[in-house]
Amino acid sequence: MIENFFESSDYSRNLFKINDKNIEEIEKESLEDNVPIVTKEVLNFMIFTARGKKPLNILEIGTATGYSGIFLGKIATENGGSFTTIEINPERHAKAVENFKKAGIFEKSRLILGDALEEIPKLGKNIEKDQKNMMDFIFIDASKGQYIKFFENCYKLLNEEGIIFIDNIMFRGLVTEKDENIPKKYKTIVKRLREFIEKLNNEYDFVLLPFGDGVGLVRK
Ligand SMILES: C[S@@+](CC[C@H](N)C(=O)[O-])C[C@H]1O[C@@H](n2cnc3c(N)ncnc32)[C@H](O)[C@@H]1O
Repeated sequence: MIENFFESSDYSRNLFKINDKNIEEIEKESLEDNVPIVTKEVLNFMIFTARGKKPLNILEIGTATGYSGIFLGKIATENGGSFTTIEINPERHAKAVENFKKAGIFEKSRLILGDALEEIPKLGKNIEKDQKNMMDFIFIDASKGQYIKFFENCYKLLNEEGIIFIDNIMFRGLVTEKDENIPKKYKTIVKRLREFIEKLNNEYDFVLLPFGDGVGLVRK
């Protein structure tokens, strides 16, 4: 019942009047190919949050097939800013390029193929040259075990009052589970995410929203 309610709100699409067939195809194809993409409810909330910031420059860690990136790219370009996204998997990167072309925003976006841990510092070098390249909104949505590293690197690129939006921070609710209920294969990831959340709580302007798979918001 509640899920249907979220489906019907469809904020993201109504807002941008994005060619529905196009975005629906990307969503359907990604799910069929087992490419993990952001859920609609988290996407809606992210777009709402990002748009409120009127961000010029937006960065995404974890492009996958470009589903969330198409919306973030639209937000950046409606403000006359830039959108950059990083993906480590060459096949997904190629698919994202194709999807961005279909959505008509490829020319205005920067889709980087590479490991974010190597690529983010390069973006930092651009910022050293020109502060205008600072990021106003960053979406972290890549491998959970690396979240602390992604975050620390990204925070350096963030403008004052900028926002970092982190998806899946509660990892299927496992971070709040009792240790004995956590499958062995997830123990390390859960341990790292717990340490990450503790660090964010203690050292940053951070709020944890326990919906979807857990959303974390940090403001600089
Ligand atoms: C959850 S998916 C991203 C979904 C996408 N943001 C969306 O909602 O449409 C995570 C992606 O991060 C990529 N990834 C994992 N580690 C990475 C790294 N170190 N650098 C760049 N991309 C990475 C994975 O290959 C995967 O495609």
